This record gives sequence, structure tokens and C-alpha cells, in this order.
Amino acid sequence: MSEKVIPYKNSTDSKKNQVATMFNNIAKKYDFLNHFLSMGIDKLWRNKVVSILKKHQPKIILDVATGTGDLAITALKLKPKKITGIDISTGMLEIGKQKIKKRGVEDIIELLEGDSENIQFPNHSFDAAIVAFGVRNFENLQKGLSEIHRVLKPGSVFIVLEFSKPNKFPIKQVYNMYFTNILPFIGKLFSKDNSAYTYLPQSVNAFPEGTAFLEKLKDVGFHNVKENRLSFGIASIYVAEK
Ligand SMILES: C[S@@+](CC[C@H](N)C(=O)[O-])C[C@H]1O[C@@H](n2cnc3c(N)ncnc32)[C@H](O)[C@@H]1O
Repeated sequence: MSEKVIPYKNSTDSKKNQVATMFNNIAKKYDFLNHFLSMGIDKLWRNKVVSILKKHQPKIILDVATGTGDLAITALKLKPKKITGIDISTGMLEIGKQKIKKRGVEDIIELLEGDSENIQFPNHSFDAAIVAFGVRNFENLQKGLSEIHRVLKPGSVFIVLEFSKPNKFPIKQVYNMYFTNILPFIGKLFSKDNSAYTYLPQSVNAFPEGTAFLEKLKDVGFHNVKENRLSFGIASIYVAEK
């Protein structure tokens, strides 16, 4: 079995605690670095998730690993009744809460501390669940996915946006160069966390993308699973039904 990818190599803390610490450390710079390092493409990807979600007209949505709430805010376009975002990083949630207050949408979006691997809601609570760039960070992927499945209503949809690895020349080579050299350098410079942007390419590398991830979705009970590769395979959207 491959070694678990963790943010801080010398720490004996659990991956979950390390991930929460890392996102607390970079929370203030997270949005800026996200848009800067992806050259704004991350916004297009989140819009794509929401356009797929539109067909399902969900009223009650769960945004897992919501971070600073960007996907939840993008999903406002669907005019849902309620969006609940959960995350283990209080630092990320704090930034998200400020953004939501500024937009005056606190009555629709609620951000709560919560762990995807032990979700604080009863069975069959949501019409849809979404997660952007979160599943790769779960300590126990299967537990996280099965908890999401549990809180979804029968007939509902689950959409995952996650990085994947382009496999065609020359995008693959350019991407590898950018992701393993340039991105960690810029990330370290701005975020002041030496590990966060080295952990990023390593965690993408270790993530079971594509058909392997579709299998994991099926293993916890989802069906009709599909993958949609975006931007030469730099990211993928996975759609599953309960
Ligand atoms: C890369 S950020 C993504 C944030 C946001 N979804 C976005 O699109 O920008 C990943 C987030 O996953 C959260 N996370 C990691 N493991 C988690 C878990 N077990 N439960 C809830 N959130 C988790 C982290 O705290 C972090 O805020």
C-alpha cells in the first residue's frame, strides 16, 4: 500500500488534524492564491459544477469541505432554500462567513464546523451534495463518501470537483513543471506555510482519480456514476446519484 500523503512530514498528528492546521495557516491567503495560481480557471470549474446541478433543481444543498465558501456562493445562482457548508478548518470558515455576511446571504448559506467523515445531520437530509477540492484531503475517503451518501435523500445527486492529472503531451509536461516547481514556490512565498503547496501536488498525485474514483463512489452505494474531464484533464467533475 502506498504511503499516506500528509502536509507535515515530521508530524505524528493525524492527517485530519494536519490538514485542518494547514488550512488554518493559509486561510487568509487561500482565495487569492487559488485564483492567482489557477489563473482564474477555478471559477469556471465551480460554475460548471453548478450548471450540472441546475438540472436537478436542488432546494437543500450540502457543500462538504466548503472552506471559504466559494462553491456555496456560486450555487446561490440556483436559488436554493438553504446551503449548508461544513469544514474542519475554523480559519477557512471564518473567511467564508465574512464573505457571506458581506453579500447579505446569511439566511441562505450557513457555514458550520463539521467533519465529512462524521456528518452531524440525520439520514436523507439533502437534495444534493457538492464538494470542490476536498475529497483528496479526507483522511478516510471511503468513510467520507459513505457519510455523504447517508445524508443524501434517495434520488439525489452528488457532484465532486477535484484535480486530476493530464496525460497527453505537451500539457502533461507543462503541467508537471508548473505544479511541482512553480506552484509550490509561489505558494510558499505568499502563504508562509512551507508545506501547503508541496502537499498540493503530492496529494493530487496520490489521489485515485478517474475510473478508480468512480469505483469508490459505487462501493459506498452511488450509481449512475460519470466522470467529466475539464481543461485537458487538469480537473475532473464526477457526478453520482443516490
Ligand atoms: C482545497 S480546500 C477547498 C475549499 C473549497 N471547497 C473550495 O472550492 O475552494 C479543502 C478543504 O477541505 C477541508 N477538509 C479536509 N478534510 C475535511 C473533512 N474531513 N471534513 C470537512 N472538511 C475537510 C479543509 O479544511 C479545506 O478547507
